[in-house]
This record gives sequence, C-alpha cells and structure tokens, in this order.
Amino acid sequence: MPPSNNSLFRRKTIAAILQNPPADHDLVTPGGLARHLSVRDLTALGIAAIIGAGIFSTIGKASLDGGPAVSLLFVFTAVACAFSALCYAQFAATVPVSGSAYTYAYTSFGELAAWIIGWALIMEYAVGNIVVAISWSDYFTGLLDGIGIHIPAYLSTGTQSAHIGYTAVMELMQAGKPLSEATEAQLAGYQIWNSAPELFGGLRLVADLPAFTITVLITALVYIGIKESKTASNILVLLKLVVVFVVIAVGAFYVQPANWSPFAPNGVGGVLKGVSAVFFAYIGFDAISTTAEECRNPQRDLPKAMMYALIICTVLYVVITLVLTGMVPYTKLGVGDPLSFVFAEVGLPKLSGLVAVSAVFAMASVLLVFQLGQPRIWLTMSRDGLLPRVFSTIHPRFHTPSFSTIVTGFFVAVPALFLNMDLVVDLTSIGTLFAFALVCGGILIIDPYGRSEARFKVPYINGQLLMPLILLVAAALLFVYNREQVNDFFRLASFGEGYEGFRHQIPMLVFLLLCLALAWLSFRKRLSLLPTLGLLINLYLMTQLGINNWTMFFIWLLIGLVIYFGYGYKNSKLGQPAAA
Ligand code: ALA
Repeated sequence: MPPSNNSLFRRKTIAAILQNPPADHDLVTPGGLARHLSVRDLTALGIAAIIGAGIFSTIGKASLDGGPAVSLLFVFTAVACAFSALCYAQFAATVPVSGSAYTYAYTSFGELAAWIIGWALIMEYAVGNIVVAISWSDYFTGLLDGIGIHIPAYLSTGTQSAHIGYTAVMELMQAGKPLSEATEAQLAGYQIWNSAPELFGGLRLVADLPAFTITVLITALVYIGIKESKTASNILVLLKLVVVFVVIAVGAFYVQPANWSPFAPNGVGGVLKGVSAVFFAYIGFDAISTTAEECRNPQRDLPKAMMYALIICTVLYVVITLVLTGMVPYTKLGVGDPLSFVFAEVGLPKLSGLVAVSAVFAMASVLLVFQLGQPRIWLTMSRDGLLPRVFSTIHPRFHTPSFSTIVTGFFVAVPALFLNMDLVVDLTSIGTLFAFALVCGGILIIDPYGRSEARFKVPYINGQLLMPLILLVAAALLFVYNREQVNDFFRLASFGEGYEGFRHQIPMLVFLLLCLALAWLSFRKRLSLLPTLGLLINLYLMTQLGINNWTMFFIWLLIGLVIYFGYGYKNSKLGQPAAA
C-alpha cells in the first residue's frame, strides 16, 4: 500500500516528477532554467568541484599521518565514490531534475528522509565551501606576501582559529609550562589575537576578510548566470589540469624510491586517520547532478560526466600522492601547502610559486561549483513546499535562482570570516558520506534487482553469496593485518575502559550490526551487490570520523528536524489534499 499523504514517508513518484516539469511553477519564468551544459562542460564542472583544497592542502596532514600508503587510501576512497557515483548516475538518469540526492531520496525513502538529506547536503555544499574559502585565503595571502603586499594577519585569519591558539597558549602560561610546548599554529593564533584591535569586552577584531571577499565575488558570478559561470569554470579547470600535469611530470624526476619505504609507517590506523581529508578531496563529482535542468541531455550526459570526472581525478590523486611522498620524506609533509612546498624543498622556488598561484585558481573553481549547487537544491526543496516559496524565485533576466543564491552567499561568506578550518572539514565529510550512503540505499529500494528501464543503471551483480563472502574476507584481512586495532575495539566495546571507551566504539558497533543485516538481506533477497557495497563502504568511512563529529552531526540533524516539523511538514505540496 502506498504511504498516505499525511505520512512522513509520503513519496514523490518518478512519473509525477517527470510529468510536472519545474517550468510549470508559477515563480519560474516561461523559459525556466537555461539548458547550456554539454557532457564536456559537465565533466569540467565535476573536475572543477573535485580538485581543490583537498589535494592542494589537506593531503599534507593525511600523508604525515599515513605515509606513502595514503595513496592506497585514495584508491579505496575512490572505489567508495565510484559505487556512489554509479548510484547517483542511475538516479540522475531516472529523475533528471535539479535537487540531486534530495530528489532521489524523495522518490525512494519518502519525504522525511528527503528533507534530512537536503539538510545534510548543506553540510557538503555550504559548509564545505567555508573550508575552501578559508583555504583559498591562506594561499592568497601567502602569495600576496610573496610579492610584498601584506594584509595584517588579524584581517586574514578566522576569529575562532586565533582564539583557539590564544586560549591554548594562555593555558600553558598559567600552568607555568614552556611555550615550546605550543604548536606553531597555536603560537601564531596567540600573536594574532594579541596584535588585533580590541573591540569590547575582551573581544578582538579578527576576521578572514579574503575568505569573505572571494565568496562574495563568486556568488555574484553565479548570480549573473550559468553561462558565464560555465565559461569561467571551463577556463579554470583547464588551467588547473595543466598545473597538475606539470607537478606530476616535473616532480617525477625528483622522486627517490627510498622515500617510499616504509610504505605505511603508522600502520592501517595511521592511514585511516586521513579518511576525512582524503574523502574531502573527492567531494564534488555529485555536484554535477544539481545542474540536471541546465544540461542539454541529462539522462545521457550526467552519468558519463560523473564517471569521467571521478576516473580522471582518481588517477591524478594517486599519482600526485606517490610523487609527493617520493619527493620528500613523508614526515615533512604536515604543511598547509604541500604541493608547492615540495618544489621549494627540492630547490625549484619558481615552480613552487606557480603551484601556489594555481591553487588560488583551483580553489576558486571549487567555490564556484558549490555556490552553484547549493541554491539549486534549495530551489527544488522550495518547489516541493518544504522551504518558503521565495527560495524558488528565478531571476527574470539571468534565469538563475536569485534569492537562494544570495542566501547561499551569506551562509558561506559570514562563517568564513570567523570559523576554524579543521573543525569544518570533518563536518563536511560526515554530512557528505551520509548523503552518499542514502543515495546507495535509495537504489537498493527503487531497483534492488537491477531491473530499471532507465537509460543508465547500476550493473546488477547478484549479492546473494558474494556479499557475505566479501564481508568474511574483509574481516579476515582486518584480523590478519590490523590485529592491534581489532583487539582494541573488542576491549573498549566490552567496557574494558568504562563508558568513555565504549562511547567511541558506538559508530563501529552500529556499523557491524548493519553489515550482518545487509549480508542476511543480500542472501535472502539476492540484492544488487554494487549499491550494497557502496552503502557499507560509505558507512565504514563514517565510522572513522570519531564520535564527536557524530554528535555534532546529530545536533545539526536535530535542528533540521525542528525546521521540518515547524514548516515543511505542514506546507509540503505532497501533503496538500490536491496531491492525494
Ligand atoms: N573536493 C573539493 C576540494 O578538495 C571539495 O576542495
């Protein structure tokens, strides 16, 4: 029996979505959104979104923790993304409208899950862009310094970052400990806080103005139009790819194979510490699906573009990681600008500068795609009545979702003035992994046996025996190669260190239960293997992000639920009598 129209699980049918093209909406101009994008533009958009702060910045810390073996983490994460991309592609071919995972969840899990995923996607797009804007600002101010233009540090640092450093150093001083115990970042934060003008009540004027300014500029570009954004994005991507190729080609000559040994100096645990950073580097291929209404042929082109973008980026990432860790010992890579750093280390300062310039462009293009994607998700949610109507206003001249674009700009630019980057990277990754997991789960619901008639579908492999077998092999491998972590898990999960130790194992315990449930379901129902694996790998990566991030993520979801029950549930189009 279908869910009633009062139900939290009320679902949009794919036929209804396709029969009611969004251009019917009274706030959309007769032309609706403009269809300009080809498969090449879409692939470029994907690469524009993918290659950014992850490879230019966060890869450094991941390499320091995991050593050269982080290249394997890039492969593993790419496999997770590929399963998710296949599922995204099937959905995009089935429901070719704006809204991405949100729309897909609406057709598979129902309205409540759709709202939750739309809410989680804000973490991927808007919160992710806060990270990129802050990282952009770091590179940009570094570049300006290099040519003698100096922005005061208190005007190019987030308030929170400076305050964290200030507090840490003050605590050291009060405890009578030497300042040498503070990290460089903490000392810098302390100095910035002290040198900043005082506002009132001990508060200082510390704000990341370049991060704010680039966000405003990019938002303005996105507001003016998809066509202009497309041209700008294509140029930026070309430039970015050329520089990445140069880094690989020149860097390869400076690789010393001795640096690759030991390959995994800190074991599997060290490699897995990089999950958040490495996953962050892949975020973006799914952003292409938000432009479905602006593609010339979404059913044919979206699946292709997603796969092309993912394959190209995976190859580049793995090779870059090997080159980086081959050029200098991994212990030196814990810097914010590893790609330019390694060239300075091997005595090529000019190339180092060139890479830094390219990072500024690379990250600007990531900002562009996400500033483009977020408003289109809100537009779709508003059309469904889950957000106020004003979010689906289309600009009469520019044909872009004008109000949503401005709200996105505000939502990214203002926090970018204040927040600390590390804290938001993890949140972005956990929110995105959650969205990916739901998309894989969605395919299992709408097409568990691969019988869809869509122009693209996830290839069906019977998971009846393979799924339990794969889980058994994975468990055996973990036991053989990561015995220490497995033992730790069992000790802590059985309250060996009380509740505090147990608390941190909750995500893994839930994950193990889900593995058993899915192995059983696959065996009983012959579920399609690839979406099942995609679901589990995304959930596994989530378990590696730590209980504190889970807690923040749940608080975020809770706020979303309050808004849904306060507004969306009552105003949902599906809930209106006419929709029954
Ligand atoms: N993948 C994007 C980046 O690394 C989000 O900046």
